[in-house]
Amino acid sequence: MAVPYVNLNAVNGHFFDEYTEELKKMFDEGQFVLGPVVQKFEEQFARYVGIKHGVGVNSGTDALMLSLAAAGIGPEDEVLCPAFTFGRCADAIARLGATPVLVDVRPDTYCIDADLMMASITSRTKALVAVHLFGNACEIDRICTVARTYSVAVMEDMRHAAGARVNGRRLGSFGQFGCFSFYPTRTLGGIGDGGLVTTGDEKNAESIRRLREHGRLGGKGEHDMVGYNSRLDAIQAALLSLKLQDLDENNWERVENARLYTQLFKGSPVQTPPFKDDLSAVYNMYTVLVPERDKLAVHLTEKGIGFGIYYPTPLHMHPAFEYLGYKQGAFPVSEDLSKRAISLPIAPGLKKKQINEVANAVLSFYGASVS
Ligand SMILES: Cc1ncc(COP(=O)(O)O)c(C=O)c1O
Repeated sequence: MAVPYVNLNAVNGHFFDEYTEELKKMFDEGQFVLGPVVQKFEEQFARYVGIKHGVGVNSGTDALMLSLAAAGIGPEDEVLCPAFTFGRCADAIARLGATPVLVDVRPDTYCIDADLMMASITSRTKALVAVHLFGNACEIDRICTVARTYSVAVMEDMRHAAGARVNGRRLGSFGQFGCFSFYPTRTLGGIGDGGLVTTGDEKNAESIRRLREHGRLGGKGEHDMVGYNSRLDAIQAALLSLKLQDLDENNWERVENARLYTQLFKGSPVQTPPFKDDLSAVYNMYTVLVPERDKLAVHLTEKGIGFGIYYPTPLHMHPAFEYLGYKQGAFPVSEDLSKRAISLPIAPGLKKKQINEVANAVLSFYGASVS
């Protein structure tokens, strides 16, 4: 039985009728960019995260870039970010003329190592990007304490972690900025690109509102600063508003799927991520570490099992970041993960039978089976 990596209809399909009613209203009213539908979602999402402001933008990448811009990051500044993450994280820093300073990650959570991060702070460090990779919370309390000590801003990269919480408090409310993405496969996904910045600070929220709207605020002609065109569309916000009501339930389903995988892989050569059942991991990706990853990928393809490889190349080995001058061997954990990590289907809608099927397909490659 083939198992797709993700089946988006399982989380979107039942909203179709309600959503088309919203679309009809939107057509009647003709407000497609920002406007009341977006504002309603921004308020609703900020309440959900437990923070004062939410500002909708058009992607997770822009959420980070606009946050860095609002924090005044520019040439001469250094921004710390993990060496094992999506390349666009360092892009956002480099686009502002600042220098991405890479830091290795932890082998257990795959997230930035707080001790190494602290050791990388210099007088030029102005911000750090804490990526809650694959939906695993990074050491956010420690990171925020270090950041306060050195007066460095914390950007939480929330792309994989919408809905996750630590000690009952939602991620995205710890740092100065929470940078969310609503790419369709995320824990809260739209039907296209979308993003949002959370912040507890009125001035920061206003800066992001200006930056996303060409540097101006409201309908006035004057531009107070050089900005971007990075607004959230109402067609995304209307669906996200509806889907927000399912987010916790969907994340719990991901946790239950992770629980089952953890049991099925016990005692096998498959190294599973730490299992947490308090939503401090929301398993946007269920990423395991395996021997002979690339051969396993071929085996899974032959069996019709979907998977993802995140990330086959650590940041410092991308030609785009060659100019930073890092050599192979600079970030051993990131380099090792990039060779051994493979993400298995985990999204809501997956049946227990399918999880068994995936686990069996993986284990059969190593000459084992689900017991
Ligand atoms: C950790 C991380 N941050 C940011 C992004 C970019 O988000 P977006 O595609 O919404 O720009 C990605 C993309 O996959 C990502 O994996």
